[in-house]
Amino acid sequence: MDHRLFFSATQRNKIYIGDVLSKILLKKGSVLEIGSGSGEHGVEFQKRFPEIIWQTSDPVSEHRKSIISWIDHEKLNIKMPKPLVIDVTKIPWPIPSKLLDTLQVIISINMVHITPWECTEALFKESGKLLNCGKFLILYGPFKIENKHISVSNELFDKSLKIENKDWGLRNLEEVNKEAIINGFQQKQLIKMPANNLTLIYQKVT
Ligand SMILES: C[S@@+](CC[C@H](N)C(=O)[O-])C[C@H]1O[C@@H](n2cnc3c(N)ncnc32)[C@H](O)[C@@H]1O
Repeated sequence: MDHRLFFSATQRNKIYIGDVLSKILLKKGSVLEIGSGSGEHGVEFQKRFPEIIWQTSDPVSEHRKSIISWIDHEKLNIKMPKPLVIDVTKIPWPIPSKLLDTLQVIISINMVHITPWECTEALFKESGKLLNCGKFLILYGPFKIENKHISVSNELFDKSLKIENKDWGLRNLEEVNKEAIINGFQQKQLIKMPANNLTLIYQKVT
């Protein structure tokens, strides 16, 4: 059965995010993606960066089914592992030792504003434990800077998120950076992306 889901934003942003990753990813090792959703990013990046292993994850079974269908569709079964069941708040995350030994990057795309703040805290906390010094945690999505929206469309999006769930909403960059510092990360880069999104690159420094 084909369970592939199609997320329109994902189709739009995958090239730009891939361009950022092309400057960070090494020629070997693994990437752990948190909140992989449909799996469209996973298969795109696995094809674009064949030297690394792209490990997807998601807590929602419909999403994991979609990821598996995308892997099948793109004939990446031999290369790409099946998605892990990771809910960031359920610590410790079930990480296979082979992944842990080769882990270069943890990435989460468009997750922290569509989950309660505890998920951001848990993402940094567990990533801080799993990543060795020099390795990267990357976030992509819309953020506020100095507690202000960087566009009217972001402000409207934030409002709509909060109507859907009062605990959701765009995160403030400075508060995200605080979580980074607490957990042994330094912000290496802030990259402005199309459609008023940011890519935040943190490096483990302890
Ligand atoms: C807006 S979607 C983004 C999906 C994908 N990263 C993308 O950009 O297309 C947010 C994703 O976060 C996942 N998610 C929600 N709560 C989560 C949690 N507690 N831990 C990990 N992922 C979570 C959802 O299942 C969903 O796949």
